[in-house]
Amino acid sequence: MLCLATGRACKMQQKEGEMVGLAAQVQEVWRGRGNRRREAPAITPLEVAPGERPIVVRRMGFPFKQGFPRWWFGESAFLTHLLNGLNFVFPAGERFFIRSVREFEGQLHDEELRARVRAFFGQESQHQVEHLHAFEALEKQGFEIKSFLVWYQNLAYKRLEPRLSPLMRLSITAALEHFTAIFGDFVLSSDFLDTAHPMMRELLLWHAAEEIEHKSVTFDVLQAVDPRYHVRLAGFLVATVGLFFFWSAGTLHLLRQEDATTRKGSRAEYLNFFFREAPRIVFDGLDYLRLNFHPDDEDNYELARSYLEKIGRLAA
Ligand SMILES: [Fe+2]
Ligand SMILES: [Fe+2]
Repeated sequence: MLCLATGRACKMQQKEGEMVGLAAQVQEVWRGRGNRRREAPAITPLEVAPGERPIVVRRMGFPFKQGFPRWWFGESAFLTHLLNGLNFVFPAGERFFIRSVREFEGQLHDEELRARVRAFFGQESQHQVEHLHAFEALEKQGFEIKSFLVWYQNLAYKRLEPRLSPLMRLSITAALEHFTAIFGDFVLSSDFLDTAHPMMRELLLWHAAEEIEHKSVTFDVLQAVDPRYHVRLAGFLVATVGLFFFWSAGTLHLLRQEDATTRKGSRAEYLNFFFREAPRIVFDGLDYLRLNFHPDDEDNYELARSYLEKIGRLAA
């Protein structure tokens, strides 16, 4: 079982009938985020204006062919599938982000923003590549994932997406990028992923760092195209419902493939996470609804930079 308090895998002393679930520990981490932040990195701060922060496209090539354990996160089925379920929404979601922004590329007259958009496309494309390889590894472990991916992509992108205006699709993209930046900050600043398998941890931390690097791009595109508040609000509402609905569905799809004992043990953790913790994540995200909100209000670029520097991939 996972011991998030120490950031190490640990055997928990669980008395008969006592619920010491992982979700409770996840909850503890969410609640105590301020207490669990790592020491500030001792490196030179990046002294540049927000618009000049570099967005670097990196080709990582994680060795997924080597495989990773079936329960790769804290030896927990629940926590593993919680993150596998989140991974499921990424590749098709990132293609949606690119399509949504591309619709408005011709309306962008600021050369710097256009350059940031191109770098954003590059980063999201690389995220897809790596996550799709992780899917192959999951299939090799015996998980059936195709039916979920087909259902998700048909519903989200073949049936719902065409019913939304291009502006709404852009607004949804900007809101989802806000959530990915929140997740990125969380995993980079806490010990949450310490008990994950090293390769999956590196995948998620690299992705997290790049989500922070490009976190303001889609918001700036939306502001350039249509800065009206109700447009931002509507996108946030749809994005929030869609994200947690499809994330939850992906997690359940995988948990259903575990044996009866594991499913039973994970049920309470699943319910607790999605009905108690997910609302807290949304609450964290409500900052997005401030009238004068901008992603750069939270200056956490240093968090991304320090991680990328640590793995020797700051430049590319
Ligand atoms: Fe991404
Ligand atoms: Fe992103």
